[in-house]
Amino acid sequence: MANELTEGARTIHGMTPKEIVAELDKYIIGQDSAKRSVAVALRNRYRRNLLPEKMREEITPKNILMMGPTGVGKTEIARRLAKLMDAPFIKVEATKFTEVGYVGRDVESIIRDLMEASMRVTKQKHMDEKYVVAEDLANEKIIEAIIPGSKKRNPAQGSTNPFSFIMGGGQATYNRTTEKIDDKAAHEDSQTELARSQVREQLKAGLLEDQYVEIDVVDQPKDNNLDVSQGGTISLGSIFGDAMPKRYKKKNMKVKDARKILIEQEAQNLIDMDQVTTEALENCEQNGIVFIDEIDKIASGSGFRGGVDVSREGVQRDILPIVEGSVVNTKYGPVKTDHILFIGAGAFHVSKPTDLIPELQGRFPIRVELEPLTRKDFVRILTEPDNALLKQHKALLETEGVEISFTDDAVEEIATMAELLNEQTENIGARRLHTIMEKLLEDISYQIPDVEDKNIVIDPEYVRGKFSETIRKDDIDRFIL
Ligand SMILES: Nc1ncnc2c1ncn2[C@@H]1O[C@H](COP(=O)(O)OP(=O)(O)OP(=O)(O)O)[C@@H](O)[C@H]1O
Ligand SMILES: [Mg+2]
Repeated sequence: MANELTEGARTIHGMTPKEIVAELDKYIIGQDSAKRSVAVALRNRYRRNLLPEKMREEITPKNILMMGPTGVGKTEIARRLAKLMDAPFIKVEATKFTEVGYVGRDVESIIRDLMEASMRVTKQKHMDEKYVVAEDLANEKIIEAIIPGSKKRNPAQGSTNPFSFIMGGGQATYNRTTEKIDDKAAHEDSQTELARSQVREQLKAGLLEDQYVEIDVVDQPKDNNLDVSQGGTISLGSIFGDAMPKRYKKKNMKVKDARKILIEQEAQNLIDMDQVTTEALENCEQNGIVFIDEIDKIASGSGFRGGVDVSREGVQRDILPIVEGSVVNTKYGPVKTDHILFIGAGAFHVSKPTDLIPELQGRFPIRVELEPLTRKDFVRILTEPDNALLKQHKALLETEGVEISFTDDAVEEIATMAELLNEQTENIGARRLHTIMEKLLEDISYQIPDVEDKNIVIDPEYVRGKFSETIRKDDIDRFIL
């Protein structure tokens, strides 16, 4: 079991730092040093996994502190990394723990949530292995739903009637009727089999996809969340989920939809949840990543002096044991936090890393700075990543049969507007591009599908036209200020 995990983990964790960076490059422009640092941190976990157990226990991960202005890719790097690594990942905001009612309350919930994430990825991994078998089973269920068997399997009829047994005389008559039923049933059985094999063929040929069938769907009890002491919530459904007999309800739906649901249900039945839990605990401890965003906001920088300072430091003190290594109880079992990787991120405008309490500073030995984004970066962000904004908007409009394109000059112009607006109002980094694209395309989006010309070309004039007012207005604002 443990071996299996290491095997599975090896393929993913086996990526070299260069490969990890190349993968991140698909989504994040620039920020090379941040990418390198996280790639090395992850590779070190893989290296550690290859060591003998005794030595392995001694090596704790080097946590990372990412510093940089807002909207330059800190969170995005963490998010992509988690996807890539298939590792249990959770992102929390440090400030959440300073809010009234949260103070010093439940930093341990971070680890409980991480464990939930681990259960999800680990369970999914197990389910993935069962989908092929599950699909066969699902198809059989669909066939049975289309051609139901005869009812003679009803066990009450097969068993001896207790009354006839007691009364003696009745027994003969009873047996004779059952025989008759059996005879008829055998005939029906072969008929059913014949019909089913025909349906099986049709199903294979994809002829029945839109036909309606009635299937048994697991009736998920609405999550009755029960508040456990210390503020954690545990869903009753998930505690008893595997212990309680499942309740089913009948649902009518198309074959293609029924298949999807049945495959999930069958895969779920095929996995061993005890094994999933054991692996998930190990996965959480060994591969878990906690991303603590806005960590600068809990540092007591000069600009932050005030009544809330005490609680800020309190939060740092609360976080410390988790980062240093402690044991947190979860509903799946205790989780040791020693080897969990923590990535702290923050703009650190006002406060500096040295404003964090020394113990916590010491726990984040790797510091990386993210660069502010330039106009050139904006052009690349708009066009290059696999999920680049321009590609997204294009695809969205294509669903309505409209082909939109941007001239190179127009893209440059959009980047310029982003840079100008960031300068003139608030510097929100690449987030500016989202607001710009929305504004740029709002009219077009509104008029679709009632446009005559299905080929729309965005040129620099169009871009400038859209923003001339905004920019001018902001210029005026700047003069007033
Ligand atoms: N270098 C980049 N390359 C591509 N996209 C980026 C880059 N930086 C930011 N983005 C995009 O901008 C948005 C905001 O980025 P992100 O959430 O990473 O900001 P952040 O650095 O965490 O900022 P904050 O300090 O406000 O949390 C995301 O949609 C992200 O995809
Ligand atoms: Mg962020």
